[in-house]
This record gives sequence, C-alpha cells and structure tokens, in this order.
Amino acid sequence: MYPLHRPRRLRTTPAMRRLVSETEVRPRQLVLPMFVKEGLTEPSEISSMPGVLQHTRDSLRKAAVEAVQAGVGGLMLFGVPAERDAVGSAGTDPDGVLNVALNDLRAELGDSTVLMSDCCLDEFTDHGHCGVLAADGTVDNDATLQAYGELAVAQARAGAHVVGPSGMMDGQIAFIRNALDAAGFTDTGILAYAVKYASAFYGPFREAVESQLAGDRKTYQQDPANAREAMREVQLDLAEGADMVMVKPALLYLDVLRAVAEVSDVPVAAYQISGEYAMIEAAARNGWLDRERSILESLTSIRRAGADIVLTYWAVEAARWLDR
Ligand code: PBG
Repeated sequence: MYPLHRPRRLRTTPAMRRLVSETEVRPRQLVLPMFVKEGLTEPSEISSMPGVLQHTRDSLRKAAVEAVQAGVGGLMLFGVPAERDAVGSAGTDPDGVLNVALNDLRAELGDSTVLMSDCCLDEFTDHGHCGVLAADGTVDNDATLQAYGELAVAQARAGAHVVGPSGMMDGQIAFIRNALDAAGFTDTGILAYAVKYASAFYGPFREAVESQLAGDRKTYQQDPANAREAMREVQLDLAEGADMVMVKPALLYLDVLRAVAEVSDVPVAAYQISGEYAMIEAAARNGWLDRERSILESLTSIRRAGADIVLTYWAVEAARWLDR
C-alpha cells in the first residue's frame, strides 16, 4: 500500500512552492507608523523598539521620502508634543507638532503616498487618556467626540489624506465624518480602528509617545476575551461611514481579523503593534529567532488571516526584502 494522497508533491521544489503559494505580501500593502517629537534636535531611538526612532521635523521628512522610495503604501503619523494639557489642545493647534509634520510631508510628498494621522487625544493629554475627562474622572464619550471632530479637521487641513480615529469612543466615525464634510473635507478618508483591544502589548508605544497614562483604557478599549463585540464594533463603523476598518493588535487576534475580513465590504487593515515588534526584535537579538524569516512569516500570517493592509514598524525593511 502506498499513500493515496501525497501533499508533499506540491512542496518538492522552490518553483513548485512558488507556483502554489496562496498569499503574497507586497510593499504597497504596508503602512509605516512614524513618530515625530516637538523640539527634538537629533532623532532618538526608542529603547523598547530598537530600530524605531522618535523623529525631528527634518529627520521625519527624510525618512518619509525613503519609505516612499522603498514602495510602502502609506505612512501613519504620531506626534509627541512638548506641552500637554487636560483637553489635548496641541492636537488642534495648526502649529502643533503633528499638524506641522503633516504639512511638511504633504508639501514634500504630495499625493505620491497616502498620508495618515492618528486621530486621538492620548498623545496630547496630560492624563494620557484617549478622551477628555468628566468631573468624576471617567472618560466623557460625547465631549470627546467634539474634540475628535476638531482634531480630524485640523489634520485634514494640515494635509492628511486619511485620519485614523483610535480612541474607541462610541459614535466617533459618524461624528468625524460629519465634521470633515461640514468643513469641506469630503475626500478625506477615515481608517477606523474599529476593533481595538485593551492590550498589554501597547507597552513600547507608550514609551514612544512618552505617555503619562496611569491606569488603563479598559472602559473604552475591548476585552481580549471577546470576539462577538468586535463584530458589533465593525458593523457600527461600517454603518457610520468608515472607508477602511482596522483590527488591532494583529497577531494575537488573527481569528477576529479573519471574521472581520469575511463581513467587511471595505478594505481591512491590521496593526502589527509595538509589542509584536518588540517580541521578535528581542528574540532575534538573543539569537532565539531568525529575524528576517520571523518578520516575513508574521506579515504573511496577517495577510493570510485577511488583512488587505498591514501597519508595521518593519514596513520599509520588509518592502526592500520583498522587492529582492
Ligand atoms: C492611541 C494609540 C495607541 C496605539 C496606536 N494608537 C496606544 C494605545 O491605545 O494605548 C498603539 C500602537 C502600538 O502599540 O504600536 N492613540
């Protein structure tokens, strides 16, 4: 008796494996998240994200040009302001760090890439929450919506093609859509962080933006135990006018990503977050993982699970590998 079925036949040579490969990762599908810090004179490496920098205004411009030349599909900008207050005023200030950077990059790059901006208050508030606080210290959903509307308009005015609301307030997509339209920015898109879990794996990002958060975000970000409410969040964001929806983190939530990809009628993104980056970098540094293979396998898995677009701190390096 011989085995009737021999799946190994399709794995015999590199050419055969290439022919039957189901999933591709292309540079154009990758979006590079970038950090720009106000008042910085030299770019500064984030210790828990080796290889990722807080940029100066100038170094950001150069790195963005390089990323576009490497073929990445877009850039997602985060600002680290010099001054923070309770309501995150620096976010709407046209001279605020993120808006200045958007302006610079739009002037430099025009429409040659898709410029995206984090549309959230946490980088700008002194308490570090993603919204404004009510008198009792809880995050005030509806007051925060007002702030998000102004933030989105400021970012669109500064040059963002797409705003990325990441604060998980109820009704944020509809509110932002309406604010953008009312200000004449009908072509500015919304990448909705539709599904965002209260994850321990955002740790290194908090260092990157020098977050002053005490406590957690569990009253607005989702419980990692729940998949059903992820589908509800996606349905709401689609109904509210999201142009793209995102699942975040990526690797720990591939089941959710697959489920979202099956129902979404708009492009689906996944954010390979700071902790996912840090895990692989740390293991590779110890010689415990093959760095390049691990990175490419992780990106392939996120694509296989259903992401059309992947936000990843390895976007530029991966784009170069993929172009070889
Ligand atoms: C909030 C925001 C966060 C990230 C992106 N946008 C942090 C948070 O929700 O605590 C995390 C990204 C990462 O970890 O790489 N503005």
